[in-house]
Amino acid sequence: MKHITLSIDRDFRKGPIDRRLYSSFAEHMGRCVYGGIYDPESPLSDAEGFRTDLLEEIRPLEIPLVRYPGGNFVSGYRWEDGVGDPASRPVRRDLAWKSLETNQMGLNEFMRWCQKANTRPMLAVNLGTRGPDAARSLLEYCNVESGTYWSDLRRSHGVLKPHGVHTWCLGNEMDGPWQIGAQSAAGYGKLARETAKLMKWLDPTIELVACGSSNNQIASYPQWDLEVLDACYDQVDYLSVHRYLGGKGQTALDYLAGCDTMDEQIETLTAVCDVIKAKKRSKKTMMLSFDEWNVSPSIRLPNENEEKPWIVGPRISEGFYTVQDMLAFSGMLLSLINHSDRVRIACLAQLVNMMGPFMTTPEGVWKQTVYYPYLHALRYGPGVLLHSASQGRPLDSPKYGPVSAVVHAAVENAPDTLTIFAVNRDVKHPIQLDCALHGYADFALASHLEIGNTDLSAHNCAEAPLAVVPSSQPVEAGRTAVLHPATWNVLRFQRQKGRRKAQ
Ligand code: AHR
Repeated sequence: MKHITLSIDRDFRKGPIDRRLYSSFAEHMGRCVYGGIYDPESPLSDAEGFRTDLLEEIRPLEIPLVRYPGGNFVSGYRWEDGVGDPASRPVRRDLAWKSLETNQMGLNEFMRWCQKANTRPMLAVNLGTRGPDAARSLLEYCNVESGTYWSDLRRSHGVLKPHGVHTWCLGNEMDGPWQIGAQSAAGYGKLARETAKLMKWLDPTIELVACGSSNNQIASYPQWDLEVLDACYDQVDYLSVHRYLGGKGQTALDYLAGCDTMDEQIETLTAVCDVIKAKKRSKKTMMLSFDEWNVSPSIRLPNENEEKPWIVGPRISEGFYTVQDMLAFSGMLLSLINHSDRVRIACLAQLVNMMGPFMTTPEGVWKQTVYYPYLHALRYGPGVLLHSASQGRPLDSPKYGPVSAVVHAAVENAPDTLTIFAVNRDVKHPIQLDCALHGYADFALASHLEIGNTDLSAHNCAEAPLAVVPSSQPVEAGRTAVLHPATWNVLRFQRQKGRRKAQ
């Protein structure tokens, strides 16, 4: 069996991980909101129209933030359409997704859902068809106690306490030609700065995210990021980063090695932030908000809005996440964890149905393969990030050349608990992982969870929801674990009580 040695040192700490790294995203897109979160026709929904079976799954996860309402959707959205008496709300065509927007789920419903789902909102303002004025009205509606036009309007809608929304996105993917109201870098930089000024004058406690490049393939990357930050560095707190990986037309290893290019993307954008910081002689370090990331399901269902435009909640970007998708997804998660010193927020795009870990059917909820690494990150990902390095023979990726067979991250969750996450990207061979844990003399492996399969196309579905689930692996005394081919692994080490004394 191949061996890889993974080394960490208790003194080589990268710093605390912001739990917001494990956030998610709910857009008015496909069946994420209508038919997912909100489905008043379903017998499984409560009196407010929220699917209770989904809430029961989400509540215990304590997802830190859910970004809302878009995505591309936000760039054509009038937030005022979604507040007040539901019977008087207008129905409109959503040009981003060729769907019908009934506005029955709007701002206050989303806030109610957040309370029920045990999460907090991260809101985006429309800088496509609207601008600073609508943004500051929305902020006033959300965060001002009373005594102003918009705060009193909120109170007249039955919401007496302000929502207190802390984190706001200044538009969405404004560099993309697909975006409603796309901008040049100079145009968007100025718009973001002026919107930010108004919003922070109104509520100086908020945090703002400026749109970075929408992906690393677009021609303007990373020049866009340089120009935008040059215009609004002093006014904003984060630069957004987006990335989706897909396996189509490539070897399994190339797909799984895609997360290495995500490392590069984060490091490039961190460098961009620091160049502008130096140029401006600023004392502020810009953080990244990776507010859209995911892989595309390899088994795709046709998009309903292409055949039948202008319907409510069409099926878009739905399908089945295979084992191979789950491994690529896990690699992305590790990239985020390993860069958590600069990536403070990250949102899994999205939460339900549309590329989500949860899928709703009329009968209930089932979970995709990718749910499990996300769950493990939420449970075992918080803590202090440690530098981790490994040695071992690399694999040969046709696209990228030599790539490491195992990708990993190490988190000290508490003084007596340590988690090592690891993906074995070798889809044919097991690898013995020998963990050199310097400074953790009295720690031993306490549990080993694994999920994966050499059948890379295996997946869950409504009829077989438990086809691919994690299993506990035998734990041998010491610090060694066998990583089966094509697996995501969670190794939990625990301080051995009284062991020092016994020795
Ligand atoms: O998450 C789906 C879409 O992908 C979002 O609306 C957009 O921002 C991105 O291109």
